[in-house]
Amino acid sequence: MKTLRDITLAGKRVLVRVDFNVPMNEAGDITDDLRIKTVLPTLQYLLEQKARVILCTHMGRPKGQRVEKYSLAPVAAYTAKLLGQPVPLAADCIGPEVAAAVESLKDGEILMLENLRYHPQEEKNDPEFSRQLAALADVYVNDAFAVSHRAHASVVGVTAYVKEKTAGFLLQKEMEYFHRSFDDPQRPLVAIVGGAKVSGKLEALQNMLERVDKMIIGGAMANTFLKSQGYAVGTSKVEDDLLTTAADLLHRAKEKQIKIYLPVDVIAADRFAPDAVCKQVTIQDIPENWMALDIGPASVICFNEVLADAKTIVWNGPMGAFEMNAFARGTMALAHTVAASHALSVTGGGDSNAAITLSGEAENISYMSTGGGAFLELMEGKILPGIKALE
Ligand code: 3PG
Repeated sequence: MKTLRDITLAGKRVLVRVDFNVPMNEAGDITDDLRIKTVLPTLQYLLEQKARVILCTHMGRPKGQRVEKYSLAPVAAYTAKLLGQPVPLAADCIGPEVAAAVESLKDGEILMLENLRYHPQEEKNDPEFSRQLAALADVYVNDAFAVSHRAHASVVGVTAYVKEKTAGFLLQKEMEYFHRSFDDPQRPLVAIVGGAKVSGKLEALQNMLERVDKMIIGGAMANTFLKSQGYAVGTSKVEDDLLTTAADLLHRAKEKQIKIYLPVDVIAADRFAPDAVCKQVTIQDIPENWMALDIGPASVICFNEVLADAKTIVWNGPMGAFEMNAFARGTMALAHTVAASHALSVTGGGDSNAAITLSGEAENISYMSTGGGAFLELMEGKILPGIKALE
């Protein structure tokens, strides 16, 4: 694949697909700027090379309608602040006004297009919409790893109509770390999988059995595994329809001699609330009307042992309801362990990254992927359509 450095960029119009779908609070402040900061090296390089940069991204899921709260105005302003130069926002992403705004760009200037998903054609990968986007530029750069699992017009369709296409530095970095951590890892490779549901991660879990040496399972999804092994888990979140699947997965792991580690104790609470009454119990002793909301301290010791000789760690999903202080300790403890280890550590998914940031260990993780769904699809062994389209 051609890289950005192989292309002459001076004076060229470069359409850069980024994923600036960042979380914002009610007041419109960006609460996590990882996806913007990580694209800056690409943008700075393009601007230094005197390209004319046209940024495009989606924001939220406005379903093909112009919904004001999904406008990119705050994101354009934030990007301008980080870049130290103006980033005007076009009124739309296609049409004569946008074409005129692009035409008036000078070398080394940058413009942001309004939310791609204001047009239903974006998610439909519509050829005419793709062609119109492509017509704005001479070169197309995909630096939107986090949306590369979507076969949308600005990710896939557009690549059929541009003269030159390539990956940006972030996309390249994401793929490099994926390769080093999952495709061709130093072993032992230990996966930590958590979060709410087995169902959302079933394919990833199955594919992981072909790749990892050991797997730690925590978070609410561990309850389904524990129940499948005959433990009574009280009122904990369980996917009863997946009990057989969970048991099969454990059985297959055993056959393949892949070790799976489930919690041995939990923090149980009388209800799902920050001020719930909670206690630490073994998995054999979860009271009937209580629910498991975090892994317990014995599990932390056990998981630390598992991680001690890891050469590579891949982490997706928290160990408990870490957004409430009372149930954050398990996830925070693992974050410190992973950060302190000498293994190559790669994390992905919004929740895992938020938990690591909360633990203050973000600097000490080898790589925090900007992908949620895209990261998971790589874990599932899928080829992302946006990446395939660049080949
Ligand atoms: C994400 O946040 O995972 C990406 O921006 C993709 O968003 P989507 O799930 O709405 O397609």
